[in-house]
Amino acid sequence: MKFDTYIQRLCVGDSPGEQFTPSTHRSVVTRARDIDALGEKYRSGHDYFYMRFGNNPTIAHVESLLARLDGMEQSVMFPSGMAAIAAIAFGCLARGMRHAVIQNQVFDQTARLFDQLRKWGLLDARFLDPRQIDERWKPPFEGPMLVYLESPSNPLLTVVDVKAVVSRVKAIDHNSLVVVDSTVGPPGVQRLADCGADVIVHSTTKYLGGHNDLMGGVISTSNALHAEFADVRLLFGGVPSVDDAWLLSRSLKTHSLRIARMCETAEKLARCLEQHPAVSDVWYPFAGDLKSVEIARRQMARGGALISFAVRGGMDAVRKFCNAVQIIEIASSLGGTASVIEVPGELDWSDPKQSTIEGLRTIPGGLIRMSVGLEDADDLITDINTALPS
Ligand SMILES: Cc1ncc(COP(=O)(O)O)c(C=O)c1O
Repeated sequence: MKFDTYIQRLCVGDSPGEQFTPSTHRSVVTRARDIDALGEKYRSGHDYFYMRFGNNPTIAHVESLLARLDGMEQSVMFPSGMAAIAAIAFGCLARGMRHAVIQNQVFDQTARLFDQLRKWGLLDARFLDPRQIDERWKPPFEGPMLVYLESPSNPLLTVVDVKAVVSRVKAIDHNSLVVVDSTVGPPGVQRLADCGADVIVHSTTKYLGGHNDLMGGVISTSNALHAEFADVRLLFGGVPSVDDAWLLSRSLKTHSLRIARMCETAEKLARCLEQHPAVSDVWYPFAGDLKSVEIARRQMARGGALISFAVRGGMDAVRKFCNAVQIIEIASSLGGTASVIEVPGELDWSDPKQSTIEGLRTIPGGLIRMSVGLEDADDLITDINTALPS
């Protein structure tokens, strides 16, 4: 079954009560006819028992959809992508992991989170290049390690050969866990469960939500790993809102169309940018270095809808370009229906804090990151060409 059909069958076929649309269950607590019945409901994980326990039917429905889209057995939803990533870190600490290798270029706040855990003395976190697995990866003490990847990464669009990393890491210690942030390559672009990833995380605020109107995060795993992350949510209290879960269920119905169109346009734009004399660099999974394009084409069905590029002439040229575009908006998120650009290296929260983390790759100051939306590709190309110096 093709992805377009699969996602419709999931969303429609699985809706509770033979409805096309799941209901929003707002009740956070259940009641019982007597005290023993309440105990029985608690033990059986009854729907509605208490919402933080993770048994709200609307949320559970969307979790079940997300797990199957990721090719995993279970999902746990969170109120933001960062809440999900923090739950991964604490879930791994709960499993006794004290050593972590973090990809040397990940979303800024993910890097800061792991750096903070290192400073607090909770995790021996090292930022290393997943393309060179060597002695430095080995834990300095007994026990499994957490390997945290982001593929493609934000904003350098580095694609990691997840299958190769999984096999090397499991050879070091088969209980180690490989986690991949798949936000920039959502379902329809790649399915990292097929590469052996143990845990997949998404910020659903981005492509899966797709409309800049909800925040969320999700962790997808096997049944065996699920309990630890669900327990972190129970104890830390990071439960998503029912409204955001419902909105996400609605967005998923059109996800395959949106992502296909955005990726198609992004591939065209990447080709145009590569050929433009005013552009010095283009970062895109299907562009640039042949070896990494070969990995990307093997691992990804599409190149994704995020492109980064640099223009000649330094920050002055970057400013001129950003202020000259007419259709493309200037904003810092990604994955929405409108095309947006930003300059991540210039933002306060990114620099200088991130550059002080040892081992992290530096984001070139003038790098422009573009999240490609649903506008007509030719209009976007005209907008870019008009704003760039000829
Ligand atoms: C790759 C990636 N992961 C995680 C996050 C965090 O997501 P959220 O903003 O939903 O917390 C982001 C946000 O931009 C991201 O780009």
